[in-house]
Amino acid sequence: MSSNQLAQLRPLERKSGVPLYYQIQQRLIGQIRSGEYRPGEPLPSLQELAARLGVSQMTARQAVRALCEQGLMYSKQGKGTFVSSFKHERNFRQVLSFTEEMRMRGSTPSSRVLSFRVEAPNRDVRTALEIGPGQKVFRLRRIRYSDGRPMGIECSCLPQDICPDLMETFDPSTSLYRQLAERYGIQMEVTDEVVEVGKATAADAMLLKVATGSPIFLFTRTCYGENGKPLEYVKSMYRGDRYKIVQRLTRGRHDVLGASIKG
Ligand code: GLP
Repeated sequence: MSSNQLAQLRPLERKSGVPLYYQIQQRLIGQIRSGEYRPGEPLPSLQELAARLGVSQMTARQAVRALCEQGLMYSKQGKGTFVSSFKHERNFRQVLSFTEEMRMRGSTPSSRVLSFRVEAPNRDVRTALEIGPGQKVFRLRRIRYSDGRPMGIECSCLPQDICPDLMETFDPSTSLYRQLAERYGIQMEVTDEVVEVGKATAADAMLLKVATGSPIFLFTRTCYGENGKPLEYVKSMYRGDRYKIVQRLTRGRHDVLGASIKG
């Protein structure tokens, strides 16, 4: 990364309530995605990054470490940190939003909102989100498209108290995770997920534009925040003919290949 690229980094918004390390991370991701710098290019040193953005080196390090964990960058001992190749980015078993995942795969995401409301959750949702019977949730059901073609249907439930004015502040056809991060400082850190295989019912098939009975992936996810609090319970179905699951399994604690995965 040249000093010119470093100079392009937008200043941080200090009053927004969004953690500084996260803002740095988002700016660097933006630069990678826009092709402003290429796979294999080195990142400036933490000192330079910290000085340019007016943050401590610890904050800069936190941002860079998070990007390495996501596979967007990698460190070489004694040589510095580099931008990963796009293959590295295709590890979509990370906790990614639909929008991020589709962009990383080179497609354009969009959504059609089927419903968005506040409701009293059923028992499964209460149990997953660890909330009491009196508490309400936001329930958002959307068809998610990739390059204008249906990829899946997602139904997310979030405790109302983590983002009480979500109905007023959020355009549900845009990225939910981006809104949660930018407006409420909420990050999904860990996800428990169960994957099953099913067949599209007539109603789902119509929305997904497949034949009734077509194979679909069924995902049940609970996402947790930094402090281990459950923040989202999601049931989704993805078209078996369009979606694939790619994962790297390791035997030890360390992944000897760094972040790369070929999907
Ligand atoms: C993924 C997750 C969902 C989450 C969604 C948010 O698809 N499986 O749990 O709700 O991302 O995506 P976006 O931020 O694009 O709205």
